[in-house]
Amino acid sequence: MLDVKRIRKDFPILNRLVNGKKLIYFDNAATSQTPKQVIDAISQYYFNNNSNVHRGVHFLSEEATSAFELSRNKIQEHFKISKSCQVIFTSGTTHSINIVASGYAQKLKKGDEIIVSELEHHSNIVPWQMLCERVGTKLRVIRMNSQGNLDIKSFEKILSKKTKLVFVNHVSNSLGTINPIEEIIFKAHKYGAKVIIDGAQAVPHFNPNLQKLDVDYYAFSAHKLCGPTGVGVLYGKEELLKDLPPYHGGGEMISNVTFEKTTYAEIPYKFEAGTPNISGVIGFGAALDYLNNIGFNNIISYEEELLKYATEKLNLINGLKIFGESINKTSVISFNVDEIHPYDIGLILDKMGIAVRTGKHCTQPIMDFYNIPGTVRASFAFYNTFEEIDKLVFAINKAINILK
Ligand code: ALA
Repeated sequence: MLDVKRIRKDFPILNRLVNGKKLIYFDNAATSQTPKQVIDAISQYYFNNNSNVHRGVHFLSEEATSAFELSRNKIQEHFKISKSCQVIFTSGTTHSINIVASGYAQKLKKGDEIIVSELEHHSNIVPWQMLCERVGTKLRVIRMNSQGNLDIKSFEKILSKKTKLVFVNHVSNSLGTINPIEEIIFKAHKYGAKVIIDGAQAVPHFNPNLQKLDVDYYAFSAHKLCGPTGVGVLYGKEELLKDLPPYHGGGEMISNVTFEKTTYAEIPYKFEAGTPNISGVIGFGAALDYLNNIGFNNIISYEEELLKYATEKLNLINGLKIFGESINKTSVISFNVDEIHPYDIGLILDKMGIAVRTGKHCTQPIMDFYNIPGTVRASFAFYNTFEEIDKLVFAINKAINILK
């Protein structure tokens, strides 16, 4: 079991007062909180090592480069990736996805098809729509059902030899559904399609073995797993990354530059133009160390308990409806109460010091499916407590009394 009382001491922000009340932070699916160990790693870099990476022969640059590359190795090890060159640092999941989309814009042709799911975040829809507009490819959609699961039959129906790319999130940010990506990857590969998975909402809750998954590309961000904002990763199979055209042009991504022709560096550097987010990458490595010290198995079982407890308690509230009732889900609960607008509930919860996200959560197709303007979303992390959930229930009841 987790020693949550001790763990909470690592997160100074959890002692903040918000509107005169002790902060209860239930917006972890948007951004997780940052432990002291990660904040220290970032400030240590600025205190001691601040310098550009891969560029200098001088001492500080060598130190910064080692710390930067050490984080790449930590990520490689954590996600069971065979080579460190398959870990590309980006500014986050959206950037990672756009690298793949822009590369495929040069590879696909009119008549080819791309499949996304109805459960996607806008960042998993819009880059592919932009690609379709440019190239003339067609976007097809795996449908969802009312429980918030993907309808795999609808996937099988649209999968064909024309399918070149399949794009699905590992976990839905709005509903918490864990999608059957092993099955999706297996089925897509039978047609020769490549699969890119958005793992942003999965990696805080469990650590996927990317090698074993046989996934072609996998994207995630540091700030969902106790790391800093502005840094993420694109993983890819080595041959695919070598074959993918670069996204940004600039310094460090080249092998040779003349006015006649430029040749590009090897992976991962081909995709890492410009000065990277060095302190962010170092902080990302520290975040993985922090989480691995706690242990993902401990995190998983504790978050499952929180989810079960919160689901039971919230279901007792009159008029409250939970959206996303998959039996495979992470610790995310999206809900509405009768016809009350989610924004109004969110505002009252904020007045009581409780941070939740309200609205469409960048997933308008899901809200359209349920024909609702949005939801209130409470997303739990391993540093949350059962007492905080009790306070959420109390606050929702109070909000209902005010708003009805
Ligand atoms: N995609 C993040 C969320 O779900 C920001 O809140």
